[in-house]
Amino acid sequence: MKILLTGGAGFIGSHTCVELINAGHTPVIVDNFINSSAESVRRIEKIVGRSVPLYEADVSDREAMNRIFDENAFDCVIHFAGLKAVGESVSQPLRYYRNNLDTTLTLCETMQAHGVKKIVFSSSATVYGNQPEVPYREDMQSLGCTNPYGWTKYMIEKILEGQTVADPEWSVVLLRYFNPIGAHESGLIGEDPSGIPNNLMPYVAKVAVGELKQLSVFGNDYPTPDGTGVRDYIHVVDLARGHVKACDYAAGHTGSEIINLGTGHGYSVLDLVNTFMKVNNVNVPYVIAPRRPGDIAENYADPSKAKALLGWEAEKNLEDMCRDTYRFQSQNPKGYHT
Ligand code: NAD
Ligand code: WQD
Repeated sequence: MKILLTGGAGFIGSHTCVELINAGHTPVIVDNFINSSAESVRRIEKIVGRSVPLYEADVSDREAMNRIFDENAFDCVIHFAGLKAVGESVSQPLRYYRNNLDTTLTLCETMQAHGVKKIVFSSSATVYGNQPEVPYREDMQSLGCTNPYGWTKYMIEKILEGQTVADPEWSVVLLRYFNPIGAHESGLIGEDPSGIPNNLMPYVAKVAVGELKQLSVFGNDYPTPDGTGVRDYIHVVDLARGHVKACDYAAGHTGSEIINLGTGHGYSVLDLVNTFMKVNNVNVPYVIAPRRPGDIAENYADPSKAKALLGWEAEKNLEDMCRDTYRFQSQNPKGYHT
């Protein structure tokens, strides 16, 4: 299939591009590099040994999107493009709503005008809100989001679901990711956050290579086995393979489906830090700090729907995630700007 990847130069998009090519598909990337660089696409090309078509454009630029769809007969779209920093979305809500919603509306209108009716969307476990029980299942009612970023994901899910009601030929797969970490095992592509990372694993990786002094563990008094927050960390290559399966699924179905992409296992902050130190034989100094506002104690996925519908389940474990993250970080201490 010929598949458009919006935001395909980013962390998850770049890994998905590699896995799509490995599975025999033809991805085309559109990205404006607001949170990535063309270097990641050069690295993808190095891994797969062939060139990858790339358009530098804003997905909310209608003219550019029309041109891209005029020049390519797409079978399916994977929509990664969006701003994703939770804290930034609280201080810049309008920018987040504008970018994440405009890109989606322009993309869908362009798809509609060109008769492309299959889309896989990067949603997030954040849409569930703080549920009273784990694991999180797709049939749980959303309890609302805690920040504008999360609300954009919630709203986009509704926009896409509405499209399948208006036109029953549309096929929409809403993938709710849990906590993607890790990197391609080549060490060529990985997560390259700008500035000081907000998320746990990129922070740990930068402490491990000495770029940051120490990790602050946000709270050790949660009702979890060791008191630190528990999350469902998933290797980005497993996640990428889930997208390949989601495209196959979209090709053979209509309507909309919400599907969790997680491992089904919860690990605490200290589980992750200790595993990272052990498998990489490196020290990660940390201090216990106050809870981060808005954090929840624990979440992890029920991944059984992904297995039943997509025939997909995660194969890599926490050790693989820690090893591969450290390899990318050590080989690229300044990310893609080395
Ligand atoms: P990323 O920032 O690395 O990738 C997003 C890409 O979209 C970047 O390359 C960026 O330049 C591009 N982009 C943003 N706005 C654009 C626009 N208007 N036009 C063109 N390109 C644009 O993030 P990621 O971690 O790869 O996440 C991909 C998607 O998955 C995002 O939608 C994100 O919200 C979602 N998601 C991520 C996580 C996570 O923890 N990484 C979890 C759940 C959901
Ligand atoms: C994980 C755990 C922290 C940093 C976020 C978004 C979510 C999704 C994935 C996009 C928590 C602890 C963290 C640090 C720490 N993204 N932590 N010290 O908050 O589960 O999810 O990313 O959709 O929407 O909210 O991920 O990596 O920030 O935190 O102790 O310096 O690590 O308290 O328990 P989170 P995270």
